Parts: sequence; structure tokens; C-alpha cells
Amino acid sequence: MKVTATVDRLRRAGVEVIDFGAGEPDFPTPTSIKAAAHDALDQDFTKYTPPAGIAELKRAVADRYRADCGVDYTDAEVIITAGGKQALYNSALTLFGPGDEVITHAPYWPTLTEQIKLADAMPVLVRTQPEDGFAIHARAILDAVTPRTRGIIVNSPCNPTGALIAESELAAIGEAAARQGIWIVVDLCYEKLIYDQVPHNLPGVLARTCRDRTILCGSASKAYSMTGWRCGWAIGPANAIAAAGALQSHSTSNVTSITQKAVVQALTGSQAPVREMLDEYRSRRDKLHAWLSADPRLRCRKPAGAFYMFVDVSDVLSLDGLRTSVDFADALLESARVALTPGEAFDAPGFIRISYATSIDNLREGSARLLEFVRAHAPREAAAS
Ligand SMILES: Cc1ncc(COP(=O)(O)O)c(C=O)c1O
Repeated sequence: MKVTATVDRLRRAGVEVIDFGAGEPDFPTPTSIKAAAHDALDQDFTKYTPPAGIAELKRAVADRYRADCGVDYTDAEVIITAGGKQALYNSALTLFGPGDEVITHAPYWPTLTEQIKLADAMPVLVRTQPEDGFAIHARAILDAVTPRTRGIIVNSPCNPTGALIAESELAAIGEAAARQGIWIVVDLCYEKLIYDQVPHNLPGVLARTCRDRTILCGSASKAYSMTGWRCGWAIGPANAIAAAGALQSHSTSNVTSITQKAVVQALTGSQAPVREMLDEYRSRRDKLHAWLSADPRLRCRKPAGAFYMFVDVSDVLSLDGLRTSVDFADALLESARVALTPGEAFDAPGFIRISYATSIDNLREGSARLLEFVRAHAPREAAAS
């Protein structure tokens, strides 16, 4: 968001910038979804709704997961929230407290750890490694469990790495969590943005292994290009969802009424727009990867999900040049007018995150500028190798 604000400032000052910072789809919200919001307005559906969301939307959420993942949840096990962010926040505040440790994997989306701290609990980080595509290993997560462990948060597809957790790894985590009474919170906000046919039925795995201690957090933001509408959901055992409902009832109350109607349409209508956007992201990902591969100092793999290329630029850094990936990002913006997010934002110094939620033309031009920038700034010995 900081990168986006800088881009806005520069653009207002008349500077042309290529923005690889965006954490949101560049597509318009699909027409049928917008039409449902218009209808809701026309029908004066503009009053308070139940704080935890309208029954029609809770059902639409539960039906979507039944159809896609084969899991069964009742209305009392679903809450509608202001984005996936509030679903995660409700979970952190209701499940975690002082003295609790909550394990998650790094690099990570920073909100996850900040929310743990807002609950006065302590984040415990398990590093994933670029060599194996930032895979999340159950062994590493479970080795971090102590008597104080209260929760494990898994984000798959992961922002910023694009990595997916393997079903078998999650099953091992789920079985251990069920035995030890540990909560599992899964951030599924990018669940519809997976490029290849890989098994990724995380709700199904957790329903089998750890249903009583699992909260699934999802969102309409990325799948349906609805980031500004603010709608997500949490699904879990009725007592945990009731606690989240009490918190929400006394804080923000219901998600905007017309947004809720729009999301009913998103979830129950044709899913073709989701597939079309995914196809477009895939072709951008493949092109971007091919362009960046022209310089071996930009080390990256094709992400399995989400819409970010996470690139190791440590070969371009040096003590007497660009020292950090923050320096890299600042200098790139200053001299080449390309904005992107340095890895420090995700606890991954030495990396940059390129969002390909932007047009092919922008990706082509931005990659060319990036390659030129690297040629000009790489330390001499690395450039020679
Ligand atoms: C990993 C991850 N989880 C959750 C969210 C929350 O998105 P929203 O609140 O718009 O649903 C984001 C947004 O960028 C994200 O990157």
C-alpha cells in the first residue's frame, strides 16, 4: 500500500511510472456482480443487516465450499466479514491472547503477524526456502510447537511467494493440531488463483483431520476482482464463529448491505470470469518469467498461485552499491520509474516482489527497464560471471 501511495503521488506530479506493486487485480469487477449491486440499491437494500451477514450469503459461501471442496457447513458456522483481513483479525482476537504462541511461515504477508501481536500473542516464524520453492514442511512447523502454541496460520497460495502447501503436509499438521488442541487458521484469499492442476483441497483435508479446530478464511477480493467492496468470510466451528460474531457485532457490524448482495451473485453465478482472469494471469506469469530469465541475476521460479513473482536479487546487491532490496526498489523507482515491493516488507531481505496484476504491455516495458537497471547496477564480479 505504501508503494501504491508513492506511485499515486508521482503520477499526480505528472511522472509516468510502471506499477508492479499492486496487491489487487487490475480487472474490473465482472458485470453480473455489479448488476446485482445496482439491483440491491434499486430495491433499497440499504439498511443494517445481521452483523454476521445475511443468511443468503452465508448459504452461498457454504454452498460454494460444498461444491468445490466437498465440505459441509451450516449457517451458524459462517460469518461474513469486511474482507479476508477481518476474517483473520476476528480469528486472531478471539482465539489468541497473552502468553500464546502462534506459528506461521516466512516470508509472510505482514498483516498476519501484526494481527497476532494485536491479540497480545507472539508470532513464531518458520522459514521456508527458495531452493524448494518456499514449500511449507509439516516437520518444520511441528518442530516449532511448544506447550504455549495456541495456533498455526497457513497461507496458501502464499503472498508473496506464490507457494502452495501440499495436502499431505497440511494433513500431518492437522492431525498433530487435533491431538494437541491447537487451532489452525488458513488464509485462502488466493485459493481461486492456482495455475496448474495440483491437489489443493485444504478445506477437505482439514475437515477430515481437524474440523473442530479449523478456521477457513476466504475472500471475494482477489477471485472476483472485488478488493474495494470489502467482503470475505470465516468458516469454522459454531462456537468460534459466534465469538467472532460478538466481536464484529460490537466493532464494525455488518459488511455493506449492497456488497453482500453482489457477493451472493459472485459465488452463485457463473464462475467463468474467474477462469478467464486466471488464464490471463497465467499467460502474464509465463511471459514475465521468460523475460526475467534473460538475466541469471534475477533468480525466480514460476509461482504456483496468486499473482506475484518473488525474485531473489541478492546477486545484484553489494556493499559499495545497492546494499539492500529496499535500496534496489528505491533506486529502481528513482531512475527507471518502476515501482515494486522490496522483500523486507515480507521479512525476506534480498528479494523483490513483482505483481503481475497489470497489463502485458506494462510487464514488457517494466521488465525491459528492470533488466537494464540490473545491467547498470550489478556488482562487477557478478556481472562478469
Ligand atoms: C495473503 C493475504 N491474505 C489476505 C488478504 C486480505 O485481502 P482482503 O481483505 O481484501 O480480502 C490479502 C490482501 O492482500 C493477502 O495478500
